[in-house]
Amino acid sequence: MRVLNKVILAEGQGARIFRIDISSPEIAKNSKAGQFVVLMVKEEGERIPLTIVDTDKEKGALTLIAQEAGLTTALLGRVNAGEDLYALVGPLGHPTQIRKYGRVIVVGGGVGIAEIYPVARALKGAGNDVIGILGSRTKKLLILEDEMKGVCDECHVMTDDGSCGTKGFTTDRLKELLERRTCDLVYAVGPLPMMKKVSDVTKDSNVPALVSLNAIMVDGTGMCGCCRVSVGGKTKFSCVDGPEFDAHAVDWDELMKRNNMYAQKEKHICRLNDL
Ligand code: FES
Repeated sequence: MRVLNKVILAEGQGARIFRIDISSPEIAKNSKAGQFVVLMVKEEGERIPLTIVDTDKEKGALTLIAQEAGLTTALLGRVNAGEDLYALVGPLGHPTQIRKYGRVIVVGGGVGIAEIYPVARALKGAGNDVIGILGSRTKKLLILEDEMKGVCDECHVMTDDGSCGTKGFTTDRLKELLERRTCDLVYAVGPLPMMKKVSDVTKDSNVPALVSLNAIMVDGTGMCGCCRVSVGGKTKFSCVDGPEFDAHAVDWDELMKRNNMYAQKEKHICRLNDL
């Protein structure tokens, strides 16, 4: 799996977000909005899931966007054009149900904007009125603003420090919009606290909401049970039953606990230089 191109999209406050284009004609040909791949940078490394942001079917290439958040994403950030990844499997997960809902508000926080972008584009293509709400800590870390403005009927930017758009959280703007506009669906991807809040706000407004969950995954094919999440009191696997679920039915507290399981181990990123 040859890396064709790598570009740093955003950098600041100790965070770095990059885009990577990979040659994979089969995955590019078959993928739909909402699906993901699982990749391994090195043979001895772990597997991580990343949403397919874009594809170029003619070139046989797919685009992924990641933030350096742990050892594997940091390793991926060091791969340059012309180098090969050890393994790539996909497309995985159910595609987003794209149809005409009416008005859809898509909410992306941080690198989650990369995940709502293909969905927003497909929803617009299906004739929906699409409103985007993008959030980041600061202007320097905001990604895909122009691309989202290109596919949304209206796009709102929120930053924690007010350096771009309006100071505040995506969910503040979502609440305001839901108070004065009708909405048929909310679609959200971002940090878990944001998605949990989206769930609360939409529940109060009686609007259906979908979230794409970033659960910890190992095999990505429903065999290891690592990505399990409780939805409506039933155990589901994010990789094969999701990654999208009804936000109102997700057990958010349990998911947050599970996703923090490796937080301590991820701190050993200093070992990166030994690899
Ligand atoms: S990643 Fe193993 S069951 Fe989903």
